[in-house]
Amino acid sequence: MLMKLNPNNPIGVFDSGVGGLTVARAISERLPLENIIYFGDTARVPYGVKSPETISRYATQITEFLLRQKVKVLIVACNTMAAVAYGAIKDLSSVPVLDVVDAGARSAVAETHNKYVGVIGTPATINSNAYTRAINTYDPKITVFSQPCPLFVPLVEEGWLDHQVTRLTAQEYLKPVVAQNIDTLVLGCTHYPLLKPLLREVLGNQITLVDSARTIARETEELLRKNSLQNSQEKPSEYRFYVTDVPLRFKEIGERFLGRTLSNITVVKW
Ligand code: DGL
Repeated sequence: MLMKLNPNNPIGVFDSGVGGLTVARAISERLPLENIIYFGDTARVPYGVKSPETISRYATQITEFLLRQKVKVLIVACNTMAAVAYGAIKDLSSVPVLDVVDAGARSAVAETHNKYVGVIGTPATINSNAYTRAINTYDPKITVFSQPCPLFVPLVEEGWLDHQVTRLTAQEYLKPVVAQNIDTLVLGCTHYPLLKPLLREVLGNQITLVDSARTIARETEELLRKNSLQNSQEKPSEYRFYVTDVPLRFKEIGERFLGRTLSNITVVKW
């Protein structure tokens, strides 16, 4: 049951690590007046190669934490958590929940003309089949081709956004998907929007890239408007970051994802 929510409360955005900062960034660009609490489980990342049971357990813990911080809406920025644990998160939540898988699926359905859609993501996301299910719920006539791309996450964290190794990796991963004549490709992972220029180069201009970070920012705006939950305070917006570890190069990597300086960081010890 949804409780009465205070529009001045923050938006809760969460991810397995720093990657979800691409979503926080898209939300802050679209909704500059909103306060954001970001949670990144940096001690336990990556989730994309873990079992569904473990991913759901971690997702539940983070959801409980953010609800205690009195967020007015929860944004599951992590594709892997959205794909595997959306049901568990939703069951637990007393506030509206938006997730990147649903946002990406809806956007792909709107974009495709020939009804052949590709999806790339972590192994856990692809194995869950969540994107195919979501896309086919909106349009059963669409054929979905999925491809796990496990090497993209470490390559992006290394900052190899325009590097020959990443280019060759992308060619290798995308070859079978492109061979299926897709006209739309869903970037089903928090890290992939940073690879957009390189993917564009590898794929050419004929394939539409669906960036779920941007899509979910638009959906967040709609949700807040429909529920009269827009922040009405006139103060500058406030961002708080909670992480479970501060790994080496955390600030550098995080700032690349967020596109601005990272401050106000609290380490949560679990
Ligand atoms: N955040 C994850 C996702 O979007 C990628 C990193 C991980 O494997 O935890 O799928």
